[in-house]
Amino acid sequence: MANNLFKQVFIKDLKEGDRISGQPFVIKSYRTLTSKNNKQYIDITIGDKTGSMKGKIWSDNLVNCQEGREGDVFLISGNIDSFSNSLQMTITSMFKADEFEVSDFLQVARENPDEMYSQLTQFMAKIEDEDFKDLLETVFDDENIRNTFKKAPAAFTVHHSYAGGLLEHTLDCLVLAESLLERYPKMRKDLLFTGAILHDFGKIFEFDISTTITISDRGKLLGHIYMGTEYISKIAPKGFDQEKLNELMHLLLSHHGELEFGSPIKPKTIEAVALWMADMASAKVNMAYNFTYDNIGIGNDDQNFSPYHKHLATDLYLKPYIAEEDE
Ligand SMILES: [Fe+2]
Ligand SMILES: [Fe+2]
Repeated sequence: MANNLFKQVFIKDLKEGDRISGQPFVIKSYRTLTSKNNKQYIDITIGDKTGSMKGKIWSDNLVNCQEGREGDVFLISGNIDSFSNSLQMTITSMFKADEFEVSDFLQVARENPDEMYSQLTQFMAKIEDEDFKDLLETVFDDENIRNTFKKAPAAFTVHHSYAGGLLEHTLDCLVLAESLLERYPKMRKDLLFTGAILHDFGKIFEFDISTTITISDRGKLLGHIYMGTEYISKIAPKGFDQEKLNELMHLLLSHHGELEFGSPIKPKTIEAVALWMADMASAKVNMAYNFTYDNIGIGNDDQNFSPYHKHLATDLYLKPYIAEEDE
C-alpha cells in the first residue's frame, strides 16, 4: 500500500515517549487475543536488525491496521511506552510495505562470515585422523552446503539467533573444546573437534531466513539433531570405520545432554560430555551477553536490571555495562 525504502528509525533508537510515523519494521510474532471485556486485540513483536520490541494493537486501532504475518515488513505508526520494566509499542496504524531493504531487518553476527569460516578451517586443519578429515571435506566441499552453513542462525530466538550465528556458535564450541583438551589431554581431539564442527549441522535445514528467521516445516517435524545425524551418516565416505562413526553420531545425538532437551541419548563418553558442556556454555553466555547489551541499547539506561529472561530464568544486572557504554 505504501512505500518507504528508507528506514530512519531502528529499534535501538527508541525511547519511552517517542512517537513514530510510518516506519518499516518486520513482524516477528502476531497473535489475536480477546480481552476480559470481550474485545479483540493483537499481541505483536516487531523487529529490525538492531533488535525487537513487543507491542499491542488495541481494538480501537484495529481498523487502521492490516493483518500482520510473521516475516512481512509493515509501515508502522505508534507510541513507545514502558510496561513492566521494558519498552513496548502501542501501534496506531500498520500497512504492508511494498519495498524495503532486506538488510535493514535481518540481524547478522558481529564477525564477517568469511573470516569466521577461515577460523573454522584452521580447526579442521588440526584434525589428523584421515576418516574425519575426509568426512569434513566431503561435507564442506559442497558449495551450496558451505554457503548455507555460513549464513545459518543457530536458533530461532534463544541464542545466536542471527545470520552467521551457527558459525559463531560452532567456533565457540571449538575454542571451548580446545581449552578443555589442554586440561584433559587424553580426550580424543579429532573426535571432539569433528563432533563440535558437526554437532548442529542439521540447523542448516531447520531454519529459513529472509527478513527474519523462521523454522522450516522440515525443521518443525524432524529437528536438527535428527536431520544432522541423518545427513552425516549418509554422506560418510565408504569404508569409514563403523566404530568411529558410531562415536561421532553419539556426539551429535547426545549434545543436548538430557532427553527433555531433545537428545535421544545421554552423553556416554568423555568427549560427549565435553561437547555438551561447551555447547551449553556457548549458548548461555551468548544469551546473557546479547540480552544485556540489547537492553542497554533500547532505552532502559535508567534501569539497573533487565526484564526477566525466560531461558536464563532471571533478570540481569545491567548497571556495570551501562557505565562502560557511557565512557
Ligand atoms: Fe543443538
Ligand atoms: Fe549447539
